[in-house]
Amino acid sequence: MDGPVFEHLAAEGPRLTVGMVTADLLHLANELDVLEGGGAELVHIDVMDGVFCPMLTVGTPVVKAITGRLIKDVHLMIDDPLSKVDAFVQAGADMLTFQIEGARQPHRVLQVLGRATNANDPARGLIRGIAINPSTPVGAIEPLLDETDYVLVLAVNPGWGGQAYISSTDARLDRARELIAASGRRILLGVDGGVTRDNIARVARLGADIVVSGSAIFDGRAAAENLSFMLDQLRATARPAMVPA
Ligand code: DX5
Ligand code: ZN
Repeated sequence: MDGPVFEHLAAEGPRLTVGMVTADLLHLANELDVLEGGGAELVHIDVMDGVFCPMLTVGTPVVKAITGRLIKDVHLMIDDPLSKVDAFVQAGADMLTFQIEGARQPHRVLQVLGRATNANDPARGLIRGIAINPSTPVGAIEPLLDETDYVLVLAVNPGWGGQAYISSTDARLDRARELIAASGRRILLGVDGGVTRDNIARVARLGADIVVSGSAIFDGRAAAENLSFMLDQLRATARPAMVPA
């Protein structure tokens, strides 16, 4: 993978991507302004279909409606992503991550995404991600790494924001990092779920390049202050994300 978005994310980490499903969706533009104005670089869009996981959230119209400078990090928690990834590419995803458990042929989904271009601007590149649930052995990513740009390890069972971080995630991140290193490819590593003001300093030191946090920022009270705190915690542990190309 190359492209300016990937290279930017690969240059330094960990970076924060902010989950928007707990934002005030009736005033989403204002909420995104808070993110942009507060220094956020990525917005994490949790797409849930109510089949793969219990919740039903947002789809391509919302992805398309989000404009501005935030990198659109789309997380598909859906059944049969192969049939739907093209629509999310066309909606303007910059990063498209799917749960491998929902795909009959996850490697084929990655091949299809490998031929897609970023609908916002082909020059930006399109980051292909695979995500694994807490129940899925980390080794399941190994056969997919030759077609992957980003591995997302879930620290909660997909469905609701605000769940507690599952402690076994720490070791799972270590294992994912080992498999990525063994692949010899430049692959970003992310962690998603249960990251709050209380644990972000600790999570930031676990070696992920990208950290997702949703309800700890959009908590209905103090998004700007929450964002500032979380960014400061990550900046305090900033390091080069990976060796240059
Ligand atoms: C799983 C989603 C996560 C989660 C993050 O449900 O993929 O993005 O909603 O939300 P918080 O940060 O509230 O756990
Ligand atoms: Zn997510």
